Amino acid sequence: MNFPGRLDISAPIEFPDLFGDSFIRNPYPWLDLLRSESPVHHDPVTGLWLVSRHRDVRQVLLAPDLFLPDNAQHAITALPVSVLRVLVRAGFTLPPALANNGTPSHPGLRRVATRFFNAQRVAEAVPVIERIATELLADVKSQLAATGSCDLFTSYAQVLPCRVLMELLGIHGVDPTTLIRWSDASLELFWGRPSPERQLELAELVVAFHQWLTETVRTGWVSSESFMGALSRHRLPDGAPLDAETAVAVCFFVFVAGQSTTGQLIVTALRRALVDPGIWPRTASEAGLAEAWVEETLRREPPVTTWRRVTARPTEVDGNELPAGARILLMLLGSGSDPKVFPDPERMCPNRANVRHHLAFGAGRHRCPGASLARTEAALALRAAARALPDARLSAEAAAPPMLGLLSFRAPLEAAIEQP
Ligand code: HEM
Repeated sequence: MNFPGRLDISAPIEFPDLFGDSFIRNPYPWLDLLRSESPVHHDPVTGLWLVSRHRDVRQVLLAPDLFLPDNAQHAITALPVSVLRVLVRAGFTLPPALANNGTPSHPGLRRVATRFFNAQRVAEAVPVIERIATELLADVKSQLAATGSCDLFTSYAQVLPCRVLMELLGIHGVDPTTLIRWSDASLELFWGRPSPERQLELAELVVAFHQWLTETVRTGWVSSESFMGALSRHRLPDGAPLDAETAVAVCFFVFVAGQSTTGQLIVTALRRALVDPGIWPRTASEAGLAEAWVEETLRREPPVTTWRRVTARPTEVDGNELPAGARILLMLLGSGSDPKVFPDPERMCPNRANVRHHLAFGAGRHRCPGASLARTEAALALRAAARALPDARLSAEAAAPPMLGLLSFRAPLEAAIEQP
């Protein structure tokens, strides 16, 4: 479907397919349309209520007892019996853990996770991030010298957060490529629109991931300093130790959330810096510019584009009545371009006064505890790349890259560069 040149506001709004190429390539005109004409919009295809104004998205996020997080990880494309059979046979379950947990066990589990990504841990991670960035960029340079081009997504943006997370959480016994494949498969199975054949392939990968986590948690050979070690010492509100299923579900979410999203942010920030006149060399030398650029990228083009909630009881959003059990899709990406909050939203303005008001990391009780790590990694990655590759430019064929286009995750899957 193409975006209508002239809007007929007397006609009912026909919103595009959330998984369609038109929306994934350029969601902004559609999100403008939603915000102005139907800010609480029922999507007949998915059955979701799309909430798009910044004010309303924030209101929903800040009322977690009314707008529950229970559906945050539900598969948006129904899983056929053949796929469910694969999952059930392998004992795959995702009980409430972090993002999908509105029960009293959430605060304690969140504290365990937060301890691994607090300000001190992030400060300690800086030399780790810089070391890994330097190693990866050395390989990028060799590849450029040998072949004349290199894809900064697969060689750099995607790998860096995975290796950083493995070091920070003490993850051993698996290589980064496998962890990335498992993580990407999990995103596609639960947030994508795969065909039934593809769902089966993805389910096999997700099961392998889950089994590896389960074995690691059950065999207890992890170090007590590691994330899994901390979970094994955790006690639930009633004093009981954490059951293995929930420990696995916590790891499952953190291992996916902690790397794929950051890789997506890095590739978007790199691409935008490479094409915006003058920004690339300035991020290499100007203090604070890489950080400011990353923040604007989070506002305008965040990797987590939407997030889900479900109403606990009948309520209203912006005067629209919603029944109990209404499934809501918060348009995080659109909210960062709401002109009522961010004037000239399409312009990348590093150091915008209120840039931190964006909702790329959510808000309230479930707000992303990895935000500081993600920001730090992305800024260091951008600065290191701009310093190591001062003459890099995006190759001509990289102008319209293949895109990741899932319900809640969107990013370019390629950033091929050349260096004359
Ligand atoms: C650019 C990168 C990232 C983005 C855009 C992002 C975004 C988000 C969003 C939108 C949520 C849901 C917030 C809500 O419901 O209010 C979330 C939750 C979460 N994120 Fe992130 N995230 C990123 C990176 C990370 C990293 C690096 C980690 C950990 C290493 C992480 C761990 C988590 C966890 C554990 C939750 C669940 C928190 C809870 O329910 O209490 N994320 N993230």
